[in-house]
Amino acid sequence: MTTSFLWSVLAVAAELLALVSAEDGAALCGLNGCQAIDLAKRYTDITMAKMMRTIKPEALEEVFQNMAKLEVLVRQVEDLQRDVMSLYQPVWPVNDGPQRWSMCAEGPCSCTLETRFVSCWRLELLHHVPRKQQIPADTRSLDLGMNRLKALHKDSFNRLTQLVELDLNDNSLELLPNSLFYDLENLRHIKLHKNRLLYLPPDIFQDARSLRTIDLSYNVLEGLPATLFKKLHHVYLLNLATNAIRRLDEGIFFDLESLEDLDLSENKLKELPQLVFYKLKSLKHLKISRNELTRLPHGVFSNLFNLRELYLHNNYIENLPSGVFRDLYNLTFLELTSNRITQVHHKDFLNMNSLRSLFLGQNLVTQIKNRTFVGTSKLEKLYLFSNKIENIELAAFSGLNSLSWLLLNNNLLRRLPREIFRRTPNLLRLQIDSNKFMQLPEGLLEELKRVEQVKLSMNPWHCDCFILYLTGWLHRNPDKIWDRQPKCRGPGDLGGKPVIDMTFNSVCDGQWASMTKIQGRV
Ligand SMILES: *[C@@H]1O[C@H](CO)[C@@H](O)[C@H](O)[C@H]1NC(C)=O
Ligand SMILES: *[C@@H]1O[C@H](CO)[C@@H](O)[C@H](O)[C@H]1NC(C)=O
Repeated sequence: MTTSFLWSVLAVAAELLALVSAEDGAALCGLNGCQAIDLAKRYTDITMAKMMRTIKPEALEEVFQNMAKLEVLVRQVEDLQRDVMSLYQPVWPVNDGPQRWSMCAEGPCSCTLETRFVSCWRLELLHHVPRKQQIPADTRSLDLGMNRLKALHKDSFNRLTQLVELDLNDNSLELLPNSLFYDLENLRHIKLHKNRLLYLPPDIFQDARSLRTIDLSYNVLEGLPATLFKKLHHVYLLNLATNAIRRLDEGIFFDLESLEDLDLSENKLKELPQLVFYKLKSLKHLKISRNELTRLPHGVFSNLFNLRELYLHNNYIENLPSGVFRDLYNLTFLELTSNRITQVHHKDFLNMNSLRSLFLGQNLVTQIKNRTFVGTSKLEKLYLFSNKIENIELAAFSGLNSLSWLLLNNNLLRRLPREIFRRTPNLLRLQIDSNKFMQLPEGLLEELKRVEQVKLSMNPWHCDCFILYLTGWLHRNPDKIWDRQPKCRGPGDLGGKPVIDMTFNSVCDGQWASMTKIQGRV
């Protein structure tokens, strides 16, 4: 069964090969070419499903081997399709005569001699570049953005050796011939975002050694060939966001020693190779948010001494390996929101002398232990909202002399040590709303010498005699209450009344005799 199935795919491939050699262009992308491949793929799915049910376990290994072979075969057929499609695209004439710019201006693209700029932007170009368009040989910038190009001939940019900028964004490109950029030795900026690229030939950028920026975002890339960025020593911006990349080769970025911005967000990365960023000594911004990372390898950010911003939000990271941020002296912004981190440790943020904002919201942290943030003495904003924090130790925030925002809302806090804010003298904004506070220890808020905004609402404030500390503070600081007034949860009819309206008579009178015997709740 397996063998006959493979044979049928082989037959399709053979048929296609025969067609190519016959150079029967018209029929190629008709039923015989492209559709044959689609049929073969569909056939694969259905047949596979049926097959799997009937196969004996001992035969399975052979099946998997054959499947791997099949995958290679399908790739080869696709490669063939790509080459064939590209060969049947027209190539526009490159003009190096004296009249080249005036001839260029005959259109349909617009041509500007002063800047040596040819713009074919938004011309509804359907399947190919305009046949009649003359392209001056000394064009520096070529804009083919926002068209509907599906394929390009492999010689489309031949002889445009002075091209510096090439914009192909927002087209329908599925495959690029591997020699497409071979002549573009001066190309610095290439925009390929918003296309339908599924994969790239390993040597596509091989001769484009002057490249500075590459934008491949918003495609459907599932992976990247290991040698794709070899020898691109000058690239400082690489955007790979919003693709379907599942894995990265450990050495893929090794030659990118000038890289400053790397965007890998919105892909399907489940893990990172340990040394994948190791050579990126110039890196300033690294985005890996919105992937499927469950863990970070030890030392994965080692050597990134120049990193300023690191985005890791919306992954499934469960814990931080110790010392993982150790080399990031220059990091100012660390975004870890929406992961599954359960614990932060004393040494997690050591050495982060430049850190200004730390985002740890929407995780599963249950407690903050003493001295967790020592080493981040410049930290200004600490986001810990929407975790499961039940307990914060007295010296949890020690070392945070510059902290001005502390967001602890949406947690499970019932109490705070009375002197907890003594270690954060510069706090301006505090959010402890949406927790389980019933009361606050007397004197807690007085530690906040400079505070301007405090959010206290959505807690089950218990309005007995002990609430009068909070009532008094609210009276003395009416302009510091941010958003809504805190309200009593109870007891009895006091439920729903603002804490600020409580008086000695309403909460202590009558209960006084028994109250004196009751210990404070906090
Ligand atoms: C990065 O941090 C180191 C150590 O604190 C410092 O010497 C260096 O100047 C910083 N680099 C930049 C570009 O700020
Ligand atoms: C946390 O620090 C405070 C103040 O230094 C100390 O009293 C307390 O015992 C510490 N807690 C733990 C669990 O070490």
